[in-house]
Amino acid sequence: MVVASSSLQTAVINPTAITIPKVTVIGAGNVGASLARSLLSQNLGHVVLLDIVPGRPQGLALDMAEACPLEGCTHHITGTNDYSDTAGSQVIVITAGLPRKPGMSRDDLLKVNGNIILEVVANALPHSPDAHFILVTNPLDVMAYVAWQASGLPPNRVMGQAGVLDSARFRTFIAHELGVPSQDVSTMVLGGHGDLMVPLISHTTVSSIPLTELLPAEKIRQLVERTRQGGAEIVNHLKTGGAFYAPAAATATMVAAILQNQSAILPVSAYLDGSYGIKDIYLGVPCHLDSSGAASVVELSLTEEEQAALEASAQSVRQTLKKARSLFSF
Ligand code: NAI
Ligand code: 2OP
Repeated sequence: MVVASSSLQTAVINPTAITIPKVTVIGAGNVGASLARSLLSQNLGHVVLLDIVPGRPQGLALDMAEACPLEGCTHHITGTNDYSDTAGSQVIVITAGLPRKPGMSRDDLLKVNGNIILEVVANALPHSPDAHFILVTNPLDVMAYVAWQASGLPPNRVMGQAGVLDSARFRTFIAHELGVPSQDVSTMVLGGHGDLMVPLISHTTVSSIPLTELLPAEKIRQLVERTRQGGAEIVNHLKTGGAFYAPAAATATMVAAILQNQSAILPVSAYLDGSYGIKDIYLGVPCHLDSSGAASVVELSLTEEEQAALEASAQSVRQTLKKARSLFSF
């Protein structure tokens, strides 16, 4: 078929006109490396992987790049120890920090990881003043607050990943119990990323059937408890280090929602200014996630028990935040 040259010209895409987003992952440990690989294999954008350990991000990035001809990823990955390579990132994910060891609480990590977050934000922000920051480092909700304070950014551009992971864990346990695909389970886990997180039973369904019609209350209680201990269960198996595949998948879900302007409703650790009756902390709540970041909080109707549980979780985050305020003077 002969195509008129004018049609051809309009059909040709000018490669220089396409802007491919850039995502930086800081911390090339278990979570960071898995996340970088997930972002790359989903072709979400160019990826920069940064760590303080010389050679580690470079080696991992080269290894991942060499998988691209086999797996069809089309974007670049750069491994670096130099923040200037992160310049112009749309999203910066911070996974730098220590993971928990057996018997260690997330709060034990407060001082060491808080200092790392302060250093990372100070180094990264000047190179990417328009970036959205997603915190992964624990203790998650307080690290998000520390990063927000250190950055001076509007709160919608600084958020934490926890609820997407915790909800995926609850979905998995329910699916295993009922012998159904985990994709059929819909739920939302709110609150802080700790032992008091709040799986919302009133909003949990399996193929639209309320969970309470499928399982007895005692079994649901056990699954809720397993979800709350989901991170510790994996730490106890592994002995050294914590979970990373599901945390990376959860974080990639948030990155995709931002880069693709999805307006997806996801549980995100977001700054609360009165939603759910809670003020001035970061806590897991449902948010619309789009190209403006955590655009708006969605207020679900909660049972009295769920609202009380959310407040108890908020109180626990507040206590850790108080320690952070005195440690880091903000
Ligand atoms: P990891 O020890 O495997 O990796 C941490 C990496 O951070 C290391 O490569 C280290 O060299 C790097 N790092 C340390 N200080 C740095 C600095 N100043 N600048 C740049 N890089 C630095 O740990 P993993 O398993 O990847 O966990 C990372 C963090 O994520 C931990 O705090 C962990 O508790 C947390 N986490 C949070 C989850 C969540 O749902 N929010 C889930 C899983 C882990
Ligand atoms: C997790 O939930 C340790 O926060 C990490 O796996």
